[in-house]
Amino acid sequence: MKISVIGAGNVGATCANVIAHKDFCKEVVLLDINEGIAEGKSLDMWETSPINLYNTRITGVTNDYKATKGSAVTIITAGIPRKPGMSRDDLISTNAKIVKSVTEQVKKYSPKTTIIVVANPLDVMTYCAYLTSQFDRTKVFGMAGVLDTARFRSFLALELNVSPKDIQALLLGGHGDTMVPLPRFTTVSGIPITEFVEKDRLKEIVQRTKKGGGEIVNLMGTSAWYAPGAAAAQMAEAIVKDEKRIFPCCTWLDGEYDLKDVFLGVPVVLGKNGIEKIIEVKLNKGETKLLHKSADHVKKVMAVLDDMKLF
Ligand code: NAI
Ligand code: 2OP
Repeated sequence: MKISVIGAGNVGATCANVIAHKDFCKEVVLLDINEGIAEGKSLDMWETSPINLYNTRITGVTNDYKATKGSAVTIITAGIPRKPGMSRDDLISTNAKIVKSVTEQVKKYSPKTTIIVVANPLDVMTYCAYLTSQFDRTKVFGMAGVLDTARFRSFLALELNVSPKDIQALLLGGHGDTMVPLPRFTTVSGIPITEFVEKDRLKEIVQRTKKGGGEIVNLMGTSAWYAPGAAAAQMAEAIVKDEKRIFPCCTWLDGEYDLKDVFLGVPVVLGKNGIEKIIEVKLNKGETKLLHKSADHVKKVMAVLDDMKLF
């Protein structure tokens, strides 16, 4: 089983590295447009295999999509990241062209692949890959919710001084400031989070989660890669191993949550067929309002892509 990661920058290289360490597929192909970068990083990673004890082969190539032929899963990280002061939406004009051209090649060499989009603005770049590939919505979706819930869970683990393994959380909506973390569906080993954290403090942690990407951009001058790379790798693992994991993923909604014609994060079951089910959680009025507000924001950015007349 082969997985391809397009874009060997910070997120792509980290993602390939995590996949290799998890040792659940035969080969990871890392592809970049920048001469030598994917080859060099892949070789360096492969040289860790005798130390870290895995078998997954890592191949790096410069824009040679033949090497990606027959990939079961393709992760698209190619695209520019934001700098301080920029929003994810500011990346659209550059990244839409990159994601479109990458998806064309991916489709040509792996017509049956499942595509996981990572490039930002995430929800709209997923829409871009969907329009380009014309794959079924079950086979093209985006990574955001796994990262955003991981941030929420990691902050709560720090707050409570408990293991992050025991914190489960749900988060819906777009990958941006309008995302909707749901404390009502957040537990510590099954115990509602509200038993542990006061309402106002929880609000602050939710707020930190929403701005979690920006917090790192402000610290480093570019966006995060360890958690994003690991999040995309976890989604690929669920697909390749047919795990039927439930993750929030960015998917095309067709009436679910009373929303239509929009890419948005909702909980789904991930398995060998990609998105095998969209889970509709009964939301209260306030949660529904926030989700619809997030959808409205994503739709506005989708319209910017439509106006670019690339399709
Ligand atoms: P980076 O700049 O480190 O890497 C991007 C790589 O893409 C570069 O190596 C570049 O040469 C390559 N690239 C550009 N055009 C290409 C093309 N046509 N074909 C193949 N490769 C191409 O950026 P980083 O930090 O890896 O971020 C990548 C993208 O992921 C950004 O758009 C960023 O905003 C997004 N991102 C999304 C997250 C999410 O939660 N969905 C989280 C973190 C980053
Ligand atoms: C993040 O949330 C920038 O989308 C990226 O870290």
